[in-house]
Order: sequence, then C-alpha cells, then structure tokens
Amino acid sequence: MSQRKPYIGGNWKMNLHHAEAAALAAALADRVRGDDVEVAICPAFPYLAAVSSVLCEKGSSIKVGAQDLHALPNGAFTGEVSLSMLQDVGCKTVIVGHSERRHIIGEPDTLINAKVLAALDAGMQVILCIGETIEQREAGKTDAINWGQMGYGLAGVTAEQMSNVVIAYEPVWAIGTGKTATPDDAQQAHAAVRAFLRFGLFNDAVADAVRIQYGGSMKPANAAELLAQPDIDGGLIGGASLKADDFIAIIDAAR
Ligand code: PGA
Repeated sequence: MSQRKPYIGGNWKMNLHHAEAAALAAALADRVRGDDVEVAICPAFPYLAAVSSVLCEKGSSIKVGAQDLHALPNGAFTGEVSLSMLQDVGCKTVIVGHSERRHIIGEPDTLINAKVLAALDAGMQVILCIGETIEQREAGKTDAINWGQMGYGLAGVTAEQMSNVVIAYEPVWAIGTGKTATPDDAQQAHAAVRAFLRFGLFNDAVADAVRIQYGGSMKPANAAELLAQPDIDGGLIGGASLKADDFIAIIDAAR
C-alpha cells in the first residue's frame, strides 16, 4: 500500500434491523480507534440516524454513509431520499453506482453521473463503484468496462472535486459469491484504473491521491494479501462487514 490513507467501508446492504445495527455500530465505535485508517459504515436508510447517534455519542471517527441518494434536492419522488436528508442524519459519504443497483435495478450511467455530481456539489464524499461481469472479464473487457464506467460516472467532475471521490473496483462476479479476484488480477485492474485517472481523465496529482478500494468477498483471510498490493488502498466490504470481529480484522489488515 502507498502513502494514501487506507479506507475500509462497510456496506451493510439490506441487512440488520435497528437493535442489531445500533449494537454493531457501538461495538465498532468501542474497538476501532485511531485515525490511521479511514472507516465508514453504510446502514440501510431507516437506521442512518440511529447509527449516527451511536457513533456521535461514543466520539467515534467512523463515518456514516448512505448506500444511495437521489440527485435532486426535493420534490415528488416517491420512495427516494435526498442529499440534504442524508446530511441531516449525519451522513458524510455515499455509495454511488453499486453493481447491485446497476445490474439488478438497472441504474444507467447517466443517472449515476447525476448522483455523483449532486453529492460532490453538496460537499459529500462519493464512493463510486465500478466493475465488470464475468462475461466481460472472459471477453477481455475488464479495463474497457472500468474505464467506461469511470468516464461516464465522473463526467463533469473537476480535479479539485476528486479529493472527495473514492473509487471502489468491485468485479461483479466476486460480490457476495465467496470468489475473490486474485491479488495479481485485482492489482492489474486497479493499476489500469489509476492509469486512466492519470492519462485519460485527470493528471498525476489526482491519480496519485485517489483511493481505490477493492470489493468482492474481501474477508479477514484474504484482506492482508489484497491490501498489500500497491494500487489497492482499502476495501468496500459487504458480508464481512456485518460481524464486528471480521470487519475489525480487515481494518487491522489495512494498518
Ligand atoms: P461482499 O460485497 O463483500 O459481500 O462481496 C461487497 C460489496 O458489494 O460492496
């Protein structure tokens, strides 16, 4: 890992109810100390406020994040949640373009881009997820897919705003499947993502500073090896973020 500050995010997805979410947040707040690793947890919308207040009461540096947002400030959008609502309950970061939203819900790149721009304009950190399906990988298109999702997702974002952007490379075939990219395969994809920030979209300063998380069945048993790769700056963790011991072991591996 480089001099970039490691960043471990927990994506709780549609899991945990109120009491469990609050208890997990409390356990993490008690046990995750220091600021050598940036840590965020992303509960489901109904529990953002509860998780925020647990972390706040305990004086924790763990950030609260949302799993999605709506790009517009308010209005007749049944079922949606705005940025100012997220900020109102203490969110500092938001996941955008997760593959489950791209592939299951069908979110297009244009919508993802609108969300990225809105979040950055509101001063929120964005974790932009990218990654290829198994068919795309087998067809040798991994880098092309990642670059395309970055190009669309980051359209209109300035170099200055990139200090608030984290990229999560999450090969779709590795998410929630127990299959993990090998450290070499993951490093290769991360290096290509960084090269695109350097030569395609931005410049050396942006490419050297942006954290690129790996996501897809990261767990205590494989975290150290993945995090040791020069272009892997952290992880976005699903399943293993639901248990305090596992999530903390991954945070420790990032130190
Ligand atoms: P997983 O999920 O760790 O359960 O594979 C990762 C993610 O979807 O962010």
